[in-house]
Amino acid sequence: MRKKVAIVGAGNVGATLALFVTNSGLADVVLFDIVEGMPQGKALDILQNTAVLGVKSSVVGTNNLDDLAGSDIIVITAGLARKPGMRRKDLLMANADIVGGIVKKIAPQCPDAIYIVVTNPMDVMSYVTLAVSKVTRQRVLGMGGILDSSRFKTFISMELGVSPKDIETLVLGGHGLYMVPLVRFTTVKGIPLSKWLSKEKIEALVTRTREGGAEIVALLKTGSAYYAPAQSTFEMIKAILLDEKRVLPCSVYLDGEYGARDVFNGVPVVLGKQGLERIIEVELTEDERKAFNNSTEEVKGMIKILKEEGKI
Ligand code: NAI
Ligand code: 2OP
Repeated sequence: MRKKVAIVGAGNVGATLALFVTNSGLADVVLFDIVEGMPQGKALDILQNTAVLGVKSSVVGTNNLDDLAGSDIIVITAGLARKPGMRRKDLLMANADIVGGIVKKIAPQCPDAIYIVVTNPMDVMSYVTLAVSKVTRQRVLGMGGILDSSRFKTFISMELGVSPKDIETLVLGGHGLYMVPLVRFTTVKGIPLSKWLSKEKIEALVTRTREGGAEIVALLKTGSAYYAPAQSTFEMIKAILLDEKRVLPCSVYLDGEYGARDVFNGVPVVLGKQGLERIIEVELTEDERKAFNNSTEEVKGMIKILKEEGKI
C-alpha cells in the first residue's frame, strides 16, 4: 500500500515540502490548512506539475483534519510568525495552542504516525507534540539540525570554493541562537576545517550559521526561509519511508543522553522506518558540553513557561 504523508500548514514550508514529496513519487500527500481554498489550490497546482513530470502521485488539499486519518508521517508546519509588538512568549503560547490543538485532534486517527515538527520554536513544539500525542519518543522528531548543518556547509563551501558535497559537519543543540556547530567534527574530504581556515574565519562562519535564519528574514522582509527547510524535512521523510538508517542531526526527546533529561534538543540520530532508531552519543569537550547545556536550558525555560500557563 502507498504511504501517506500529511502536511499540516500549507504556507511556504508546507507547500514547498508537498511539492518535493509529490515529485518524488514516494508517497501520497494530504496538505491541510485552515485557510479555505488555499491548500486545495496549491495541491491542484502541484498535481498539474506531476503531469508535466510524468510522475504518478496523489496530492490533495483540505480544510478537514479527518482527511489526515491513517497517515504514516505527519509534518507540522502550521503556526504564526512573529508580528510587530508580539512578544516571544506570545508567539510561544499561540503556536503551542495551534500545534497542541491539531495533534490532539489527529493523534487518535493516526495511531501509527511518525511526527516531524517544523513550527518554531521547534524544539519546544516537538515537546508539545510528544506530550499531547502520547506516542513513544521514537515517533516525534524535530527538524532543525539538517538545515543548520546545510547552512554551515554552504558558508564553508562559499569561503573555500569547494563543493558542499565534500564537506561533513555536525550541528548539535536546539534550533536557535544556542545551536552548537561542532567545528571539531567538520571536515573537507576528511581534512579538518582547522587546516583550511584560521580560527577567526571559522568563528565568523559559525556566527553566520547561528544567524542564518535571521539573515534570510532580513532579506525577505515578509517571511522566513523555506526552500532549504523543506528540503531538509524531505531528507527526514525519505530516510523514514525508505528505511535508510541515515545518520542525521534531529531534535529528539532526551532521557539522560548528553546529560539532559525531559527536553528536546538536536543530536545525531539514526533515522529509519521506526523514526528515531538510535541516538548517537559523541564525547563532548568541556566547552562543547557547556554550549549544549545552554541550549537545553533555553528550551527547558520555554517548556517551563508552557507548563506554568497550563498549555501542557
Ligand atoms: P507560513 O506563514 O508561510 O505558513 C504557516 C501556515 O500555517 C499558514 O498557511 C497558516 O494559514 C497555517 N496555519 C495557521 N494556523 C493553523 C492551524 N490552526 N491549522 C492549520 N494551519 C494553520 O510560514 P512558513 O514559512 O511555512 O513557516 C512555518 C513554520 O515553520 C513557522 O513557525 C516557521 O518559523 C517554522 N520554520 C522552522 C524551521 C526549522 O528549521 N524548524 C525552518 C523554517 C520555518
Ligand atoms: C530558519 O532557521 C525561521 O527557523 C527558521 O530559517
